[in-house]
Amino acid sequence: MRMKKAWMGAATLAGALFAGAASAAPPTAEMLSNACAGCHGTKGGSAGLTMPSLAGQSKEAIIDAMKKFKSGERAATVMGRLAKGYTDAEIVAMGEYFSKQKLHATNQMLDKAKVAKGASLQEANCSRCHLEDGKEGKDETPAMASQWLPYLQMQMEMYLSGKRKMPEKMEEKVKPMSKEDLDALLHFYASVK
Ligand code: HEC
Ligand code: HEC
Repeated sequence: MRMKKAWMGAATLAGALFAGAASAAPPTAEMLSNACAGCHGTKGGSAGLTMPSLAGQSKEAIIDAMKKFKSGERAATVMGRLAKGYTDAEIVAMGEYFSKQKLHATNQMLDKAKVAKGASLQEANCSRCHLEDGKEGKDETPAMASQWLPYLQMQMEMYLSGKRKMPEKMEEKVKPMSKEDLDALLHFYASVK
């Protein structure tokens, strides 16, 4: 319940900031990005388990995600509606802003055995696109290092159920893997600092 209220509050705030900015001088990237802080944290460092951090995310990954939210191609709880409020230029500006922030390091309670198992699986299966232990990503591949585990688990569920479309080459790797191995991989990425 509290979570839901906070979301609604943040969405209203985002709307208010946006409406206010539209009548004055064009908003700076930082002003635009302040509207995201209610959910994604100050400067994109998320404090909420199901909210992804944007800090240190690549510009390409943010732009790609926002475009997919906007068109409805990527399933979302709140971002679909929110993304529609921004022009392509504003999305690029915010992508630049968040990509310049330091990757948000988190301290999560993680199962050490799963982290170790994930570490042994990542190179052969995921490292082609999720580079540098998930600190970076090829092209529009998002960084996953230190991302909140519940967020990553939710997204993996969405991929596996077909709600979120996996890139073809990722699907080739993911489909043959067991749920346990996939969960170990997510533990590994969440542990990386
Ligand atoms: C009301 C809360 C809320 C606000 C405000 C919000 N977001 Fe989000 N964002 C989410 C949630 C929740 C997700 C996960 C997808 C979903 O379910 O909508 C997400 C996902 C994302 C992602 C995908 C991250 C990834 O790792 O794939 C990007 C990019 C993003 N948001 C950008 C933004 C930007 C830019 C703003 C400000 C203009 C913003 N968000 C404002 C809640 C919010
Ligand atoms: C061929 C490149 C490629 C490979 C291999 C790959 N991925 Fe991905 N991954 C991507 C791209 C691109 C995205 C974002 C695509 C989208 O819009 O859904 C992504 C997104 C994700 C996400 C969602 C992250 C977020 O912030 O929303 C998870 C979780 C994930 N991958 C896990 C894995 C795991 C685990 C493996 C190894 C078994 C893997 N991926 C292999 C390219 C790849």
